[in-house]
Amino acid sequence: MKLILLGPPGAGKGTQAQFIVDQYGIPQVSTGDMLREAVKSGSDLGNRVKSVMDSGELVTDGIIIELVQERISQPDCVRGFLFDGFPRTIPQAQALVDAGVEIDGVVEIQVPDAEIISRLAGRRVHPGSGRVYHVTYNPPKVDGKDDVSGEDLIQRDDDQEDTIRNRLEVYREQTQPLVAFYSDMSDAGGGRPAYCAVDGVGDTDAIKVQVETALKEINA
Ligand code: AP5
Repeated sequence: MKLILLGPPGAGKGTQAQFIVDQYGIPQVSTGDMLREAVKSGSDLGNRVKSVMDSGELVTDGIIIELVQERISQPDCVRGFLFDGFPRTIPQAQALVDAGVEIDGVVEIQVPDAEIISRLAGRRVHPGSGRVYHVTYNPPKVDGKDDVSGEDLIQRDDDQEDTIRNRLEVYREQTQPLVAFYSDMSDAGGGRPAYCAVDGVGDTDAIKVQVETALKEINA
């Protein structure tokens, strides 16, 4: 199954991705995680993208498209994959079409801005695995430590309030047009890719149930 999780920063894409990956046995392809890994390793790519990411702007389409094409050619993507944070612009979505990548379903997670700011300000991440927590809504068992490895959790550099506001602006201008792009594609393709929107406000388990229902529709 080839899926896209679409939604603003902090909508809970990474959180819901954790359960989809476990349930469907497909890898999560998170361009944000891949870019952060490049920054951490100090690679040439990492050095080029760090300041762009810290400001909340988008990395150029050419870099992202190359990164994703290379990633989905790996053997673990043969049975499908879950895109998290990609595509984020019309040219990125068009690049998938041009490459003949047929998406089965798009799940949009909808969350209002005010909720997003409090979510991201309280987010903590385990950099090694990408596991995501929140100091209030989804705290780790031991404060500041990953539940599985016991290693330290960190706060992302782009989770400062000014940067979060810029990321929301960038989402509205450059990523939200994908809602119409994929809805129109679904209508024109007789329901393929399937397009499902879920309400991302509320308990993470309740949202998981909505996502599960959407995935059943996509799989039907
Ligand atoms: P990326 O890493 O993709 O960030 P993002 O899209 O901004 O999404 P987030 O990871 O911030 O949020 P999420 O929806 O995954 O939410 P999460 O589950 O963590 O991108 C970072 C940067 O990389 C970009 O700004 C850009 O520079 C660059 N980049 C990446 N991809 C790119 C691309 N394709 N093109 C160009 N540039 C690209 O949840 C957030 C918090 O809320 C957590 O603390 C969580 O515990 C909590 N939470 C989750 N669900 C709930 C709930 N239901 N109730 C309460 N709290 C909740």
